[in-house]
Amino acid sequence: MVSESTPSGLAVEENPGAAPRPVRQKVFSGIQPTGNFHLGNYLGAIRNWVAQQSEYDNIFCVVDLHALSQTTSRDTLRENNRNLANMLLASGLDPAQSIIFIQSDVREHTELCWLLSSVTMDGELRRMTQFKDKAGGRGERVSSALLFYPVLQAADILLYDTNLVPVGEDQKQHIELTRDIGARFNARYGETFVLPQPDIKANGARIMSLEDPTKKMSKSDASPNASIALTDDPDTIRRKIRRAVTDSGTEVVAAPDKPALTNLLTIYSLLSNEPIAALEERYAGKGYGAFKTDLAEVVVAAMAPIQARLADLDANPDAARAILSDGADRARARAIFKMAEVRDRMGIGLG
Ligand code: AMP
Ligand code: TRP
Repeated sequence: MVSESTPSGLAVEENPGAAPRPVRQKVFSGIQPTGNFHLGNYLGAIRNWVAQQSEYDNIFCVVDLHALSQTTSRDTLRENNRNLANMLLASGLDPAQSIIFIQSDVREHTELCWLLSSVTMDGELRRMTQFKDKAGGRGERVSSALLFYPVLQAADILLYDTNLVPVGEDQKQHIELTRDIGARFNARYGETFVLPQPDIKANGARIMSLEDPTKKMSKSDASPNASIALTDDPDTIRRKIRRAVTDSGTEVVAAPDKPALTNLLTIYSLLSNEPIAALEERYAGKGYGAFKTDLAEVVVAAMAPIQARLADLDANPDAARAILSDGADRARARAIFKMAEVRDRMGIGLG
């Protein structure tokens, strides 16, 4: 079934002879098992996945094959896979509402990646900002997996007839490329893939570094004080927020010339579910100190239930293993079905 997302948020299944039946939109998103999962990942992506879980037909994936573009240690990758799986469950992803699995458990992702490379232009991949940032002109010394990264991401998304891809702002270009690849395939071989839409929220899609509000909070930042890890203990959280850079002046307001305060207010507002304007009013004339003290407690309180669930999951490794194995079975069943269609369209094998 091929359907474009409709503005109402519902895809309509074509079922000749019967009245159109609304079906739930399909959501797919992924996250790399690379190091410390931080507040930016949580607010920009995972929290939204959790909040919308009951509305959609969801698939969430630990993309370990993507992480191979940068991780070269076997033990690190294994450990990161386990930690991230536990973190997703602790953050509230629910296997009763969402398929949660490890990318490498469903081999169809790598197969589709290769097939899609035949409709992806080399120039398109070299123009990706993430590639340019990460490769940084060191062409001879970065793996070609870094260049191929968006083709595998397109495969992840197109494999499941995805309508919506909830991500942070930095992934917008990769979703646009996914649409281009899907459209090119459809034009060449006939309608096969649904063209997905990015789902990027107005707030939180770009949480900035606590040390430099012109840079995004990033797993690859060398300084541990630039980001808050979801596993940071309360005192570490308090210390990092106390040290966070602020703007000149004393007023707690969000404004284009106050990037640091805008970032801190955004974090406060998202975690407390209060509008930024209400916070500006509350802290008028109170200065940065009082604001930061309260913000630290808001973050500590938001992390506490996640950290408690994480401790339970860490103490019982078989729990996540069973959930991810079941998730892979469910994802694989859909992937096998789609790949049969793709192979046939392309004329692979004897048919
Ligand atoms: P990554 O850490 O690159 O695997 O990203 C996982 C998800 O978190 C993606 O949807 C990103 O767009 C999102 N993300 C990463 N960093 C940030 C940030 N600083 N602010 C908001 N979202 C982010
Ligand atoms: N590239 C994404 C990131 O760095 C991770 C990712 C891989 C992804 N496959 C995906 C995100 C499919 C959304 C959909 O955040």
